[in-house]
Amino acid sequence: MPSLPDLVGRSVAVSGVGSAFGVAIADAFRAQGAHVYGCDLDPSGFEAPVAAGIRCSAVDLRDRAAAAGWIEAVACEAGGIDVLVNNAGGVAGQQHQPFETLSDADWDVVLDINLNAAMALSRAATRHMAAAGSGAIVNICSGASLRASLTGIQAYCAAKHGLLGLTRQLAHELGPQGIRVNAIAPGLVLTGEATLRQWDAYGPERQAAILGGVAMRRLGSAEDIARATLFLASDWAGFVTGQILSVDGGIR
Ligand SMILES: NC(=O)c1ccc[n+]([C@@H]2O[C@H](COP(=O)([O-])OP(=O)(O)OC[C@H]3O[C@@H](n4cnc5c(N)ncnc54)[C@H](O)[C@@H]3O)[C@@H](O)[C@H]2O)c1
Repeated sequence: MPSLPDLVGRSVAVSGVGSAFGVAIADAFRAQGAHVYGCDLDPSGFEAPVAAGIRCSAVDLRDRAAAAGWIEAVACEAGGIDVLVNNAGGVAGQQHQPFETLSDADWDVVLDINLNAAMALSRAATRHMAAAGSGAIVNICSGASLRASLTGIQAYCAAKHGLLGLTRQLAHELGPQGIRVNAIAPGLVLTGEATLRQWDAYGPERQAAILGGVAMRRLGSAEDIARATLFLASDWAGFVTGQILSVDGGIR
């Protein structure tokens, strides 16, 4: 990959660094010479990022004070925050269930981790970015930000649509302060138990139909998502804000 020199020495905060995308995103920034900080609820995935030189912290992002506290700690150690990647999220172990039997608890957790956490982290980070007069936020949205979710999980679709709305609104509010806010919409990537279970449940016919609807005729990888994130965070995207970039191989 050609290097993106403007990322050397930048301080980058990545949420959900214990996930497949989080690890790949943090690694990609690290490889460009950035100082990378990550957080996740579950520290069991920290081994690989820590070995790669990423400073990892266990944080429950449902606790907004803890989310803001992590950003303050990163900004204090790094002398500011240049890039925030809101990657934590997912389906919290849930599968589709009929809307009329959906519990408040199941709805709340998915809204909290995909939308409210991004709000809390962004609010804390923008104070530092505004003081510096520059910054970039990249929100890991989903195809479910643009259309109904393949997961069938109502809260996931609502949260990811909300995250896209936050992206567009913040881009307009923060642009005058030199802060860009963009989003990535990954297609399905088989990253772990939830996505593998989802893929298996489709069965061979639906799997073939899904792949047939992808121009590149393959599913994506975590590295595909990481490269697009690097682009949006870098000065190469210096006049790009309020946008959602689909990284899905071209879905019909
Ligand atoms: N894999 C896909 O196909 C796909 C497609 C579109 C979007 N996404 C999005 O990409 C992001 C990463 O997905 P992934 O597939 O790598 O794995 P994932 O969905 O399992 O990642 C979620 C990460 O967020 C962390 N997290 C959950 N609750 C948390 C909390 N309360 N506090 C802190 N961290 C918490 C988890 O521990 C996990 O590491 C998610 O936002 C997901 O919604 C994934």
